[in-house]
Amino acid sequence: MSTLVLGATGFIGPRLVRKLVARGESVIGVDLNPGAAAFADVPIGAPVIRGDITQFEDVIRIMLDVKPERVINLAYGLGAGEGNPHQVMRLDVLGMDNCFEAARLTGVKRVVYASSIAVSGQQSKFGDRLATEDDPHYGTSQYAMHKMFNEFQAQKYIKNYGMSIVGVRPANVTGPDKVRGSVDHVQIMVEAARGKPVHLPKKGLMRTLIHVEDIAEIFLRVLMAEAPRHHLYNSGGIPVSLGELAEIVRGFLPDAKITFAEDGGREDSGNYLVDNSRLTKEFGIEFPGLHTRVLEVINDVRRSEGLPLVTGGRA
Ligand SMILES: NC(=O)c1ccc[n+]([C@@H]2O[C@H](COP(=O)([O-])OP(=O)(O)OC[C@H]3O[C@@H](n4cnc5c(N)ncnc54)[C@H](O)[C@@H]3O)[C@@H](O)[C@H]2O)c1
Repeated sequence: MSTLVLGATGFIGPRLVRKLVARGESVIGVDLNPGAAAFADVPIGAPVIRGDITQFEDVIRIMLDVKPERVINLAYGLGAGEGNPHQVMRLDVLGMDNCFEAARLTGVKRVVYASSIAVSGQQSKFGDRLATEDDPHYGTSQYAMHKMFNEFQAQKYIKNYGMSIVGVRPANVTGPDKVRGSVDHVQIMVEAARGKPVHLPKKGLMRTLIHVEDIAEIFLRVLMAEAPRHHLYNSGGIPVSLGELAEIVRGFLPDAKITFAEDGGREDSGNYLVDNSRLTKEFGIEFPGLHTRVLEVINDVRRSEGLPLVTGGRA
């Protein structure tokens, strides 16, 4: 019995694959871009198959060949912009449905998919309170709309066919090699670690940060759980303004040149107060503190650039 990871060679996929392999799982990766560099060092124990999730024939053929017990879909048009609505719709909506339908036809025991904090929309819609999985959706981007439809479609499959399909809504995933989606928080840490200046529009803009290793761990737990109690989980994370993040970075790198065009931004922020008690209670997940993760990101970058590592810091 094996686990099929669709979208295996992106930002989150390789970390999840590594964790599955460490647990002794047999893992098969699928990606449109199977040879992506980020995947080169992962001891997957099986080749990554080239497959296009927008093509039902690809998805069903792979599932019939592999006969996976569990499937997770991470392939998505993250940061694909709103400028290419047709292509992104095919990947996000049709691609996800292809995964659900092929999993149904081949009797997959557990399907996990990535939704997003983006479905909740602006924090201002919730005032100062935490948004839960049961709150209304206020997202307005095409990306958010697609995630909402994925959640809707998952419910259809669950209700009509009794499938075990579980969604996770990651917050703003962060890590040294993130290049798609929200990257302002990444730039602050990565450019400062390289000794390069960073200039961003809004100091007060809020993000809810979750390290890529932590979200990979969440996906792992949900994927492997015998019987998850819910169909949807907020990942949650640590809410922080970009200005506060810059201060944490300066605690480690006092000469970091991080500037902002203006102080505001809090009122324009997407949902940043997130109730993740469902996840933490059921799976016992605890995140390392933000200072710990920021130092790790800084040193990951400095190690790869051959720069001296940073220790301690004033924070
Ligand atoms: N990274 C974040 O901050 C974040 C936040 C919230 C939700 N998510 C969700 O988590 C999931 C994974 O995110 P990520 O950061 O790893 O994304 P990513 O863009 O780094 O990885 C996606 C992978 O899918 C592959 N892919 C694209 N089109 C494909 C196709 N037609 N067929 C097969 N593979 C295809 C890409 O080659 C890539 O390797 C996505 O659904 C994303 O929306 C991510």
